[in-house]
Amino acid sequence: MLQSKPYQLINALSLGEFCSGESLAKQLDVSRTTIASYIKQYSVLGLDIYSVKGKGYRLAQPLSLLDSKVLELALPNNMPLVFDQVDSTNAWLMSNIDCVEHGQVVLAEYQSAGRGRRGRAWQTPYAGQLCMSLLWRLQDGIEAAMGLSLAVGLAIVEALEKAGFKDLGLKWPNDIYLGGKKLGGVLIELQGHANSEVSLVVGLGVNVRVASLQAEQIDQAFAQLETNAKPPLNRTDLAIAIVESLNQMFEVFRLQGFAALQQRWNRYDIFAEQAVSLRFSEERQLKGTAKGVDKQGQLLLEINGQQQAFMAGEVSLRGQ
Ligand code: ATP
Ligand code: BTN
Repeated sequence: MLQSKPYQLINALSLGEFCSGESLAKQLDVSRTTIASYIKQYSVLGLDIYSVKGKGYRLAQPLSLLDSKVLELALPNNMPLVFDQVDSTNAWLMSNIDCVEHGQVVLAEYQSAGRGRRGRAWQTPYAGQLCMSLLWRLQDGIEAAMGLSLAVGLAIVEALEKAGFKDLGLKWPNDIYLGGKKLGGVLIELQGHANSEVSLVVGLGVNVRVASLQAEQIDQAFAQLETNAKPPLNRTDLAIAIVESLNQMFEVFRLQGFAALQQRWNRYDIFAEQAVSLRFSEERQLKGTAKGVDKQGQLLLEINGQQQAFMAGEVSLRGQ
């Protein structure tokens, strides 16, 4: 998939230097008109590509593309599959759920129909996100999956902190925050039954550099990793660090459950001891003081002096 001709073109331009139409046409063994059409295809995805007479094409900024060979070497048990473009990595795994193995990771440079929580759209700028989905099989039924959804957010935040990023946080159940704004999100889709094996598609998107085309579609304040680091960040290394952290987290979770991770999760809670509202629907909300999460990963709210626990689901937590 990554060997497609349009992808080879973007790979040639990724260093951010000028490449003439002629040399690109020669390299890819296509006509110059075809090169121009490939350039158009990527511009529509939000990439800024300049064309200067006599010099050729150049990306406004160098891009760090995913290196499938490096990923394969570093993550042999996760069998990484890298798409240049896909509708949604979660959708791809859901439709191949019976023929992939536990641990399979699918990454993409771009999603045309990224899915967010509660049916929302998720913007995936071309080569501007760490965008992936993993398939996990869990023996303990759907109930165990709830704590796992929080563990995923924690694994991502810990991997990013280890890579040198600061001011990271978690918003229950599993939104990733940086400097008080949403940096990334997690969407877990399930197939299975209450007490038998469950297959989980664990999808995550972490912003690295958000192009203006996609930024216009996001209806809340958001963060991106490149704001606080010298571009371009090596996305392959960061993707590996996240998958390794998820692999480790899964083992801890499988053996000990969320209880072993509760304190670690609470360290990153962006709403700790703050006044919050929990929305069940437009009409139904509860106000209280956030008290972190319990051993199952339930949200603890103090309401009128009494602590109550809430399960993640079709609910949304906001600051007041
Ligand atoms: P909650 O789920 O708790 O309500 P939320 O407000 O972040 O939190 P979600 O449904 O988790 O809502 O996420 C969807 C939101 O994320 C939408 O508001 C959407 O505009 C926004 N969004 C879409 N793409 C991105 C992105 N790349 N970075 C940050 N936010 C994004
Ligand atoms: C959210 O906060 O709403 C969750 C966003 C999850 C986005 C990721 S990107 C990779 C995977 N594929 C999707 O279509 N969605 C998830």
